[in-house]
Amino acid sequence: MRKPVLAGNWKMYKTILETKDFLRQFHEHTISDDREVVICAPYPALPWLTEACEGTSIQIGAQNVHWELEGAFTGEVSVQMLKALHVTHVIIGHSERRAYFAETDEMIGRKLRTALTAGLTPILCIGETLEEKELGKTNEVVKRQLRTALEDVSPVEVGKLIIAYEPVWAIGSGLAATDEDAENVISYIRSLLPERYQDKVRILYGGSVKPENIAAYMSQPNIDGALVGGASLDPDVFHKMLVEV
Ligand code: G3P
Repeated sequence: MRKPVLAGNWKMYKTILETKDFLRQFHEHTISDDREVVICAPYPALPWLTEACEGTSIQIGAQNVHWELEGAFTGEVSVQMLKALHVTHVIIGHSERRAYFAETDEMIGRKLRTALTAGLTPILCIGETLEEKELGKTNEVVKRQLRTALEDVSPVEVGKLIIAYEPVWAIGSGLAATDEDAENVISYIRSLLPERYQDKVRILYGGSVKPENIAAYMSQPNIDGALVGGASLDPDVFHKMLVEV
C-alpha cells in the first residue's frame, strides 16, 4: 500500500511572518501519521520552518535546487544547503520553471540525479500544455519528460521518487482535470516506470486541487495524493484536504 502524500507548493508566497501565522493556525489541527504532509516553501522560510516542524509529521521541501554541489551560480541553492537545514523534499521541473526559467528536460534530469544522490525526495513535475493536449500529445509529452529525467537514474533510485502529474492548463486556472482523465494519464505514467517499482512510486495529481475535488482524485487507484498550489496557502483549507488524502 502506498502512503498518500499531500504536498503544498507555496510558490512565491508568504513572508516569514505569514509563514509563522500559517503554522500557528495549522498546528491547531491534528495530523495522523498515515499520510505524508509536505510544505514546499520559499527559501527564506526554510530555516525557521524546518526547526518549527522538527518532531512533527510535517516535512519541509524546497521548490528548486541546482545540480552542482557548489560554484559560481549566482542566485542558486545547492542540495548540501538544503540538507543542512533538514529539508527532506524538493520540487523539480515545475512547469513554471520550465516556462519562465527555460529549464529543459536535460537540466531537470541533472537536478533529479543530484537530489537523489543527496538523499532528498524529489517531487518530479511533468505535464502537458493546453496546445499539446488539444493535439492529443499528452502521453507523448509525459513519456518524453519522464524518460529524459530518468535517463541516468537507476531503478532503485526511481523507487525513491514522488512524481506529480500537473497538466499546465489546469494550474492556477480553476479548470482541474477530471479525476478520470488524471487517473488515465497517471496510470500511463506508472506503466512507464521500471516494473519492480511501479507499485512503490507515489504519483500525485496537481492543478486546481481544492477541498471540493480532492476526494474524487483520491478515489482513483493510481492517484496517491496531490501537489497543491493556491489552496495550500490557507491552513484550514490545507487541513481540510489533508483529511481527504
Ligand atoms: O505545484 C502545484 C501547482 O502548480 C498547482 O497550482 O494553484 O492550481 O493548485 P494550483
